Amino acid sequence: MIKLPGLIDPHVHLREPGATHKEDFDSGTSAALAGGITMVLAMPNTKPPIFDADTLDLALNAAKQKARCDYGQFVGAGPDNAIMAASLADKAAGLKMYLDSTFGELRLNDMTLWQPHFANYPKNYPLVAHSESRSMAAAILFAAIYDRPVHIAHISLKEEILLIKAAKEKGIKVTCEVCPHHLFMTSSSPSGRGQGEGRMEVRPRLATQTDVDALWGNLDVIDCFATDHAPHTLEEKDSDNPPPGFPGLETFLPLILTAVDHQNFTMDDVIKKMYTNPKKIFNLPDQPETWVEVDENASYEIRAEEQFTRCGWTPFEGWKVRGKVRKVVLRGKTAFEDGRIFVKPGYGKNIRG
Ligand code: DOR
Ligand code: ZN
Repeated sequence: MIKLPGLIDPHVHLREPGATHKEDFDSGTSAALAGGITMVLAMPNTKPPIFDADTLDLALNAAKQKARCDYGQFVGAGPDNAIMAASLADKAAGLKMYLDSTFGELRLNDMTLWQPHFANYPKNYPLVAHSESRSMAAAILFAAIYDRPVHIAHISLKEEILLIKAAKEKGIKVTCEVCPHHLFMTSSSPSGRGQGEGRMEVRPRLATQTDVDALWGNLDVIDCFATDHAPHTLEEKDSDNPPPGFPGLETFLPLILTAVDHQNFTMDDVIKKMYTNPKKIFNLPDQPETWVEVDENASYEIRAEEQFTRCGWTPFEGWKVRGKVRKVVLRGKTAFEDGRIFVKPGYGKNIRG
């Protein structure tokens, strides 16, 4: 049995408000606990999107009633809410800027709309950019010009990791995260197993083996791992217009642990990228008396039917992994043990509370 700190997932979509048939703060935080994660940061591309004081309250009130693990809520950058978003920085996990194609309405196409957000959001709170390829390069330039940190969400390409490496070497305050699906799958991974093509839709798209190799080859440039847990139902994924996104909370740690000892990847890296670094980058509080017990030798196959997420599927169905979460203790209470959740909705605390 190994003991880990309560893990942090800085990038999840819990679908509340507006799409609780996919997930809500209850099912999503239960999935987190089952995955050994005791703190999640929720994204703002909900319905309505979280972009002002009222919508932030809407999400935080739902979370307060329903969350079983600790949580923060991002505010989204819109075309004209830079001053409003900055005024909410004390209450929000951070500011999320959607600069590329995504699910939902929050998207800033025009670069002139980015400027007020980089200029106004307080430098001591995180600014996260969904920015791919050339827009990532532009986001890093904005961070340099405004001399503030930027965190790049879910990088997937060789050109991205190499540019971030170069920017770090120049002293630009850029950090980044990588998702398990971009580390373990490529665009030619079988969408097979009888599943429709829509199930493999995700943004950023799955990349090539060359890209995957570049991520593994530059592990020291990757600050955090994050799931981008993006639940959609199977009916939606198999429809004519499949929304992009994979659930990931319950497969996160086992997939990562299965890779330990490969390619010079150690347990120290796991703790750094799933606890120490996200805690620092996102300015997160301590969780006293909190830990995760993992049976590192337990091998098993991933099964959607054993998951707490409401979406009912996983792109990793049938994958053989090693490392099973046995027990999660959160602030002195057993929150999860051997497949069962023991804390009630509302036990979770707001990390900016
Ligand atoms: O695949 C994705 N799904 N990428 C995103 O950027 C958004 C997410 C979602 O909310 O479904
Ligand atoms: Zn996301």
